[in-house]
Amino acid sequence: MSEPAIEVYENEGRSFPPPADFAAGANTSDQSLYEEADADYEAFWARQARELLSWDTDFGETLEWELPHAKWFLGGELNVSYNCLDRHVEAGRGDKVAFHWEGEPGDKVTLTYAQLLTEVKKFANVLKGMGLNKGDRVAIYMPMILELPIAMLACTRIGVAHSVIFGGFSADAIVDRCDDAQARMIITADAGYRKGAPGLLKPTVDAALDGGASTVESVIVVNRCDTEPSMTQGRDHWWHDVMADASDDCPAEPMDSEQLLYLLYTSGTTAKPKGIMHTTGGYLTQVAFTHKYVFDIKPETDVYWCAADIGWVTGHSYIVYGPLANGVTSVMYEGTPDTPSKDRLWQIVANYGVTQLYTAPTAIRMFMKWGEDLPGGHDLSTLRVLGTVGEPINPEAWMWYHEHIGGGERPIVDTWWQTETGGNMITPLPGVTATKPGSACQAIPGVFAEVVDDAGNIVTEGGGYLTIARPWPSMLRGIWGNEERYRETYWSTYEGRYFAGDGAKLDSDGYLWLLGRVDDVMNVSGHRISTAEVESALVDHPAVAEAAVVGANDDVTGQAIVGYVILLGSHEPSQELGNEIREHVGKKLGKIARPKTVIIVPDLPKTRSGKIMRRLLRDVADGRQLGDTTTLADPGVVAEIAAKAAEGGDED
Ligand code: WTA
Repeated sequence: MSEPAIEVYENEGRSFPPPADFAAGANTSDQSLYEEADADYEAFWARQARELLSWDTDFGETLEWELPHAKWFLGGELNVSYNCLDRHVEAGRGDKVAFHWEGEPGDKVTLTYAQLLTEVKKFANVLKGMGLNKGDRVAIYMPMILELPIAMLACTRIGVAHSVIFGGFSADAIVDRCDDAQARMIITADAGYRKGAPGLLKPTVDAALDGGASTVESVIVVNRCDTEPSMTQGRDHWWHDVMADASDDCPAEPMDSEQLLYLLYTSGTTAKPKGIMHTTGGYLTQVAFTHKYVFDIKPETDVYWCAADIGWVTGHSYIVYGPLANGVTSVMYEGTPDTPSKDRLWQIVANYGVTQLYTAPTAIRMFMKWGEDLPGGHDLSTLRVLGTVGEPINPEAWMWYHEHIGGGERPIVDTWWQTETGGNMITPLPGVTATKPGSACQAIPGVFAEVVDDAGNIVTEGGGYLTIARPWPSMLRGIWGNEERYRETYWSTYEGRYFAGDGAKLDSDGYLWLLGRVDDVMNVSGHRISTAEVESALVDHPAVAEAAVVGANDDVTGQAIVGYVILLGSHEPSQELGNEIREHVGKKLGKIARPKTVIIVPDLPKTRSGKIMRRLLRDVADGRQLGDTTTLADPGVVAEIAAKAAEGGDED
């Protein structure tokens, strides 16, 4: 394991108790949930499952734990779309707004719970009509438009598992994911608006289907931007055509609590992404619970906004499933925060009277750079709770969020969790916890986070590795088609414990400080990218002989991808070639994985056993001004690498 890249904020002594008026009206404001969960955590989760969700068949046993496999709420049956939609409509809340959707160009759609339910039923009938059955997998590759949650919920209505592929991924990434999951269908759009222009999606799907993904029988295409994509007869269908005469009569089918709900692929330490499996009852219980208590949701009055993309787990759990299960009104936004102007987010908060905002530290650092005048020009007084997720937040960014967005008083919830954990795991509860800038504070009630040292001994104060000591309801149920990798990645490092892959430090008050990944996974703008994946895309370029990738520190994105490459003999280093290599990675994997800098070097420093000295390469990258460029093998870099290697380098 390598050392975490982030230093803990040793001198951070500030602490912010919940404001008294907030605590007075909060969903929870004392230790009672923690105490209840500590006394009997199975009974605690069973109570949450029964109170927060509607079950067609009540469950018997709460938990069956055969390490490393957990089953929650055994024998129980429920339907996710019923819990997210029908029950609210049946209770007379059909006219309540589910989503205030805002397109990047400024077009708006408001969808009530009743309208959303009708669309979901119709689309579920479309899926059935196209031969999809319970247990099948479909891929979804879409922009942030309402058809995306409609498609997801329609899948859950009939027991089809979705595999959402982030719209920024490449054709190769689609092929890998469709092949692995044996997806029978892809649901997509012609394009979505990104930074003022249509970002095309359908041509990427076509390229994927030309090159592989042979299990895909049909494609459904939403017409979002009128880009007139080519449509393959017999295979491709317009969403508006198939929906035109679909019936809106489609009962929700009761599903076993452990029925596969979705797959979501995430990067690990090898070049092949892992299909993380989530199931029905436990997942929905924990996302509904955390959404309600971490964000202090009041469904009657709140307008909640998670400004993430549904292509990542944050969007699955906190744009779609948690908020809809709790029956709250949400905002959903298609585009980027700088289009058409850099105060776009603050305009939206003010327009809709947003009460909770959930975003990433990268975005906050960007807003800091843009200046406090932008939020200062809007009325943000409706905000009650501010959330962050995806990467460690530095105290400066935390304080800026607190002061300039939170008016110096709104509680901030820094939520640590992962694709694998399904829902929030370590976070303050806003009416209970005194927060410290930069700390995710404590595990939620019913989750048992512990820091251990190299030998697996529990650390009571100080640094180590984050583990989870007991199963939790929304934990991953496995890696699709790869039991061995599941055991190996999460359960073999420390016996009996879930190993998260993050470094963590416990302070003398028992607060957790997350320190970043300790494996070869980078975190760029809150997105997980594996060094191995980028390295294999680099060596895929015909001019590259060998490559080593590191995540260097970056003021805004947390980490930035730096690729060191050795060229094959006949190729001359040049700026153009370096840029071509960067673009090649962008094409192979998607733009988010394109290295910020490619450094062409004659050689790579290696240990005697032949392992690349990554820490040394990281240090060299950290000591340089990185731009979106190629750096030729200037004597400076080479000399620096040589000098560091001579100092002994490292063996990580
Ligand atoms: C990192 C995103 C520090 C961490 C929900 C984890 C965080 C990885 C935080 C999971 C946080 C997420 N503080 N680090 N509040 N939240 N991380 O699967 O390294 O995309 O292992 O899930 O992001 O990323 P993933």
